[in-house]
Amino acid sequence: MKQDSIRQHPVFSENKLKLGVFAFNGGNNARTLIPERYKFSWDNSVDVATQADLSGFEAIVPYARYRGFVRASHPSAFAFDNFTWTSAIAAQTHQSCVMSTCHVMNFHPILVAKTAATLDHISRGRFALNIVCGWYDKENEMFGHPDLDHDERYAYADEWVTIMKRLWTEEEEFDFEGKYFKVTGAMSQPKPLQKPYPVLMNAGGSPQGRAFVAKHCDIAFVRSDSFEMVNGETTAYRQLARDQHGREIQVWATCACILGDTEADAEAFAARCREHADSEFINYYLSQRRNMTPEALAALRDKYAMGGSGYILKGNKNQVADQILKLSQAGLDGILLTWVDFQNGIRRFNRDVIPLLKEAGLRQN
Ligand SMILES: Cc1cc2nc3c(=O)[nH]c(=O)nc-3n(C[C@H](O)[C@H](O)[C@H](O)COP(=O)(O)O)c2cc1C
Repeated sequence: MKQDSIRQHPVFSENKLKLGVFAFNGGNNARTLIPERYKFSWDNSVDVATQADLSGFEAIVPYARYRGFVRASHPSAFAFDNFTWTSAIAAQTHQSCVMSTCHVMNFHPILVAKTAATLDHISRGRFALNIVCGWYDKENEMFGHPDLDHDERYAYADEWVTIMKRLWTEEEEFDFEGKYFKVTGAMSQPKPLQKPYPVLMNAGGSPQGRAFVAKHCDIAFVRSDSFEMVNGETTAYRQLARDQHGREIQVWATCACILGDTEADAEAFAARCREHADSEFINYYLSQRRNMTPEALAALRDKYAMGGSGYILKGNKNQVADQILKLSQAGLDGILLTWVDFQNGIRRFNRDVIPLLKEAGLRQN
């Protein structure tokens, strides 16, 4: 965490366990084809964001996707642009952090420095940037990007974010010449409201991704297949940031939520999702993921069939609240939630689970 950052930013809230909602700016979650699944649209985006904002979620996080999977007409190809979507969501909300996800290779840092500063003003200091290096080869090819391998993309991102931080903090124009960027007489005004600059997130899991987060970011993401895994990963991640850069970071994980009136209801819903899994999509998607063990791929396949990823919160309200408590005890600062049906899902979560999280001392509001 940036020690001198303005602490009013929502992700620095007093709540022990922060909440976020993820990826409802597009159709990427259509990994199951059950009729209740979320239908992405602007109005439905506003509906979900409003529910999150009213119930005090710390973060609203869109994903960035330029190329779908399977075919161009597949629901996974449909996603709103992040910066314009975030700008309008910022104007419709009052409390939550509004984030944009940005692929470093698709946008020049001078452009993003100004866009992010503008969004920080529009949101009155609630903006955050999710920096991604891109893992989807076909998407990179679509842009005709230079063929940088995985590790080099993080080296590129290091220069990218260094230029942006200087644009956000330096009053005088400057020159920068690195391996990937040469900028001359660079300047950007206005500066962001957040000082020294907006909250930064990166969800990289590789050693290069972790090194990047430890050096530059405020929020990291870890895999969360089990509580033990979360515990090991959060401890190691925090230690890395402290040892390498003397920095404190928050550690979050993604969670898909399947909440039923009873445990049996939740299991029945999960079973229906599996029955209607969009296998064509899941097969294609997993074929694009590199550097994953067969075990990790198999686990992901089953989660995707239930419409989610990350830790699967499943059961009645007490069971779901208990699982969240255990994730917090394992070391997480926050969870980023998805639902197969975002609109109904977030309403039920707010009604049934948040009061239990308050009782457990995880949230004050
Ligand atoms: C919460 C979260 C959000 C992410 N958002 C995106 C996204 O919008 N677009 C994208 O291409 N990748 C996204 N990713 C993928 C990561 O940026 C990263 O590429 C991936 O976790 C692999 O890590 P690595 O790059 O260190 O190998 C996201 C991952 C997580 C956990």
